[in-house]
Amino acid sequence: MKGKFIVFEGIDGAGLTTQSTLLEKYLKSKGLNVLLTKEPTNSLIGGLIRAALKKEWKTSNDVLQLLFSADRAHHLNQEIIPALRDGKIVISDRYFLSTIAYGMVELEKEWLKSLNSKFPQPDIVIILDLPPKISIERIKSSRFGFELFEEEKRLEKIRNNFLELSKEYKNCFIIDASKSIEEVHRQVINLVEKIL
Ligand SMILES: Nc1ncnc2c1ncn2[C@@H]1O[C@H](COP(=O)(O)OP(=O)(O)OP(=O)(O)O)[C@@H](O)[C@H]1O
Ligand SMILES: [Mg+2]
Repeated sequence: MKGKFIVFEGIDGAGLTTQSTLLEKYLKSKGLNVLLTKEPTNSLIGGLIRAALKKEWKTSNDVLQLLFSADRAHHLNQEIIPALRDGKIVISDRYFLSTIAYGMVELEKEWLKSLNSKFPQPDIVIILDLPPKISIERIKSSRFGFELFEEEKRLEKIRNNFLELSKEYKNCFIIDASKSIEEVHRQVINLVEKIL
């Protein structure tokens, strides 16, 4: 495929939305053709996922991760792959490493890996890494209410899962996300310019 596929991953509140938006702006200012997208998507499947995360709809962990993977397959077919074929730079706020890192807290890692094994590998996976204490403080000062995944001990496991997975998949880079928004953005640009 002609385009480039950039993914942001990390625990809740690590700054994925902040940094993916800044990167989109930066690349657009260079005159590049960019699609910023996210998971879960705004499709019907994404709606089910959000309802489950808010505990408005009760389901099991394996169903939730199957839904995330189904949402991803739909996302790839409808948006990501067509945009890459058009030569766009696609930036996704979360992708399959999230399913594995969050899911493996309760479920078998190998099952989650196999569920996601057919999906295309991104050109760069940027893992925003920071202690959950800091990410929780950020969430508390910016949002109302906590979702299913946001407790410190659990986030610590997920953080370690991302670090472990970064060694098992190609093109993964870890950035210290406890730094300022501007400093993290500079490091993101450094990485991205290497592949463009
Ligand atoms: N490097 C940073 N330093 C200080 N505050 C930050 C930094 N990055 C993001 N923030 C702030 O932290 C809050 C959470 O950031 P953001 O929404 O980007 O996180 P997120 O990773 O997208 O979270 P989620 O995964 O839950 O969507 C926002 O208020 C944002 O402005
Ligand atoms: Mg976000």
